[in-house]
Amino acid sequence: MSVAALPAELLEAARAPYRSIGRFAHGFAGGKLAADPAYRAILERGLLQGHERVLDLGCGLALLAAVLRAAERCSQDGRWPANWAAAPRALSIRCIELRPRTVERARRALGGAAEIVQGDICVAELGAADAVVILDVMHYIEADAHRALLARVHRALAPGGRLLLRVGDADGGLRFRIGQGWDQAVMLARGQGWIRQHCRSLGEWRALLLECGFDSQVLPMREGTPFANVLLCARPR
Ligand SMILES: C[S@@+](CC[C@H](N)C(=O)[O-])C[C@H]1O[C@@H](n2cnc3c(N)ncnc32)[C@H](O)[C@@H]1O
Repeated sequence: MSVAALPAELLEAARAPYRSIGRFAHGFAGGKLAADPAYRAILERGLLQGHERVLDLGCGLALLAAVLRAAERCSQDGRWPANWAAAPRALSIRCIELRPRTVERARRALGGAAEIVQGDICVAELGAADAVVILDVMHYIEADAHRALLARVHRALAPGGRLLLRVGDADGGLRFRIGQGWDQAVMLARGQGWIRQHCRSLGEWRALLLECGFDSQVLPMREGTPFANVLLCARPR
């Protein structure tokens, strides 16, 4: 399986800030950026183009912010793939993450490159944004809270805004179960024990988005991975 990876220069520029917080984080960032097709898809297709205020919910170590800043630098230096959409410029990036230790490490790695706030996205102030990105987070949130969160995201988005929501498709068979097993293994490795995952089929996610006022398009996001992931690009109606 080949991965739609970031070009090497961009990948190195995005992972570089994590060197300052240790070899493990630097290795993790490099591995994730090389194996996850979402970052390239977002840049290559210009999915955040024209959206200046980006809000990343459940940001983890804020890899998306690191990628966007690296993209800005690479394009300023003339190191931008000619056949990609225009690079992001002068974005304001705000991230919200639940785990205080992860927030502290992300802040140390990125410095002032992004505002990283500790909080529970189900209740935290979302503020106003032109684009909201939620990658691999919804299944950690109680199913009953999905609708309220997406409705708040809808209210936070400016007219013409966009939501990028990556989820696993619960109708995805073996690939979906591999994704669930992977997440469970990660939680066990972090000492967080067994978790209940709150998943939906792709059709159910799209129906919920519709109820919350979004039209959505589906971008398959499984290339080079064993998972049943999709990226939903949603626009408020
Ligand atoms: C699988 S990681 C994904 C991280 C990041 N979005 C990425 O793609 O690299 C899921 C993240 O969501 C965070 N998270 C889970 N529930 C959350 C909540 N209610 N509020 C904020 N963050 C949450 C977790 O702490 C974890 O860092």
